[in-house]
Amino acid sequence: MRIDKFAAEQTGISRADAKAMIKKRQIIVNGSPVMSGDVHIDPEKDEIIIGGKYINYREHLYIMLNKPAGTVCAVKDELSPTVLELIPPELRRKGLFPAGRLDKDTEGFVFITDDGALAHRMLSPRSHVEKEYEVTLEKPSEDGYKELFASGMTIDRGEKCLPAEIIFTEDRHKVRLIICEGKYHQVKRMMEAAGNRVTFLRRIRIGGLPLDPDLPLGRCREIMHKEVAQIYAKQKQNSPRNF
Ligand code: URA
Repeated sequence: MRIDKFAAEQTGISRADAKAMIKKRQIIVNGSPVMSGDVHIDPEKDEIIIGGKYINYREHLYIMLNKPAGTVCAVKDELSPTVLELIPPELRRKGLFPAGRLDKDTEGFVFITDDGALAHRMLSPRSHVEKEYEVTLEKPSEDGYKELFASGMTIDRGEKCLPAEIIFTEDRHKVRLIICEGKYHQVKRMMEAAGNRVTFLRRIRIGGLPLDPDLPLGRCREIMHKEVAQIYAKQKQNSPRNF
C-alpha cells in the first residue's frame, strides 16, 4: 500500500496533507523518513510513525459512542453537530459513518465504523440484531403492553412490526423495549400505537454488546474485535443496569 494512502486512511488527513507531511519529514517508516508518497509499505509489518505518533494499524475501526441528545447520526449536517464530531483525533480516520440512526433527541449507543460490509450485515432486517432501549413514558405502562408488543403490532396505517419484548420496571413510567429491526422512529411510533408517548429514549444494547456503563455521555471508545463479534452473539442477556 502507498504510504500517502495509508496515512490518509489511518489518520483521517487528506492525501495532500500526507504529501505535505512527507515533505516535512514527518512520516517515518522503520526509523527513516519517507521521501515520497508512492513509497510502498506493508501495514502489517512496517513500523510507521506519522506526526510523531506510532500508528497501530487496523484494517477497520469500530467505535462505541454514548450519544448525547442534540447530535445527529449523519456524516454531515448543516444545522446540528454530528456524532462524527464527537470522535477524538486519535480515533479519526477516513470513511467513518454511524451504522444506524438514533433520533436527535435520543441518547445512547451508536456504532460507528468504516467497515461497510459489517454495517450492512448488522443493519439488514434479516440479521435480526436486537436493540434494547430504556424508554420513559408520559403515562404509566399497562400490563396489556406485554402481549401487544409480543404479537407484532401494527403502527400508523398498516406498517407491521416484528414481535418485540417489553420489560417492566418498578417505575411504571419506565420500561425497557427490545426490538430487532430499525424502522424510522420505531420505538416512538410503537408507543404511540399503544396509546402512550415517549418522553425520553436511550439505546443501551446492540445485539449482545451492551453500552459500556463507564462511558460518559458524549464520549467514544474503540470496540475491540471480540466485542464486535458480540454484536452477533446469542442475545437475550440481562440488561446492563436498571434505570
Ligand atoms: N426508535 C425511535 O423512535 N427513535 C430512536 O432514536 C430509535 C428508535
